[in-house]
Amino acid sequence: MAAKDKVLEFLEKNRGSYVSGEILAREAQVSRAAVWKAITALRGDGYDIQGVTNLGYALAEQTDRLTPAGIGACLPASLRDQISVVSFETIDSTNNEAKRRLSAGEQDSGKLLLITADQQTAGRGRLGRSFYSPPSTGIYMSLVFTASASLADAVGITGAAAVAVVRAVRRLTGKEAKIKWVNDVFLDGKKICGILTEAVTSLENSHAQQIVVGIGINCSTENFPEEVAHVAGALHGCDVRRCALCAAVTEELCGFIEQLSDRPWMEEYRRDSLVLGKTVKCIQGTHTYLAVAEEIDDAGGLAVRLEDGTREVLHSGEISIRLAEK
Ligand code: BTN
Repeated sequence: MAAKDKVLEFLEKNRGSYVSGEILAREAQVSRAAVWKAITALRGDGYDIQGVTNLGYALAEQTDRLTPAGIGACLPASLRDQISVVSFETIDSTNNEAKRRLSAGEQDSGKLLLITADQQTAGRGRLGRSFYSPPSTGIYMSLVFTASASLADAVGITGAAAVAVVRAVRRLTGKEAKIKWVNDVFLDGKKICGILTEAVTSLENSHAQQIVVGIGINCSTENFPEEVAHVAGALHGCDVRRCALCAAVTEELCGFIEQLSDRPWMEEYRRDSLVLGKTVKCIQGTHTYLAVAEEIDDAGGLAVRLEDGTREVLHSGEISIRLAEK
C-alpha cells in the first residue's frame, strides 16, 4: 500500500480527531517528510485535512469521498479482510468494470470484490435503461462474488440487495424505505435506489456462478433527467456519509451471500413491499393493464389479480409495474 493510502487509512480510522505527524509516520512506516507529502497529495485529491501545530492532522468529520480507506474504516473488522475494495472517480459502469475483471480472470474466487465509483458515464439499469449517475452525490457500487448455486438461486440475491439497502438506510438514518417489486427502493414516494444483478455462468459447471450485484443509491442527487424526474428522489436531508452507507449496505448484503438457497430475506422483502395489496399498472412492451398485487412467491414472482378475476404470476425481466394513480 502506498504511503498516501496508509496515511489516509489511519486518518479515516480517527476521523475528526487530530493525529500527530509522528504517530502517522510510525503507523504508515514512513518518514515525517513522506507523511507531509502524503497529506499534501491527499488535499490535492480533495480531502479536507486540517493541520494544527502541536496537534497534527485531522480528516474533517464531513469529508465524504468514496474510497477504499473510507469504506474500509466503516466495515466491521471481520469483513474488512474478506473484501477487496476498488474505487474509481469516473467509470462507464461499475457493473461493466466488474464483468471486464471477471472475463480477464482477475477475480480471486475466495474473496469478495467491491467496485465503487464517484460517477458513472454509462450507468446501466434494468430492461436496457440507463441509470443517472452524476458526480459526488450518489453511491454507485458493484459487489462481485462467486457462488456455488443454481442460476435461479444466485440471481435471487437481487431481493436480498433491496432488503440490505432498506436495512442500511434504516440503521443510518432511521427512515423506513420500501421495496417496489422487483428491486427498486423508494423513500417518501420516490425511487432512491435501483439494483441490477448480472451473472456469468461457467460452461463447465452450471452450479458455479459469478455474480455482480450493482446498486445505485441517490444520496443528494438533484436535477434528474426529464424522463425520470417524476419518479426519482434522493436521501435529501438525511445526515449520512456515502462511505458509511456503502459499507452498511455491503455488510448487510454479505450476511446473505452464504444463504442463497434458503432466501432468509424473503420475509422482510414482503414486509417492506410497497406494492402488496395495491393496484398496480403492469407494463409489458406497449401492452398495459391494471391488477391488484396479491403475493410475492419465494422465487420473487409477483402474483397479481386482474380485473376479470384471473390470476397471473409476473416475472422480472419481462414486465415492469407502476403504482396505479388513485
Ligand atoms: C435500475 O434502476 O433499473 C437499476 C439501476 C442499477 C444501477 C447500478 S449503479 C451501480 C451499477 N452499475 C451500473 O451500471 N448499474 C448498477
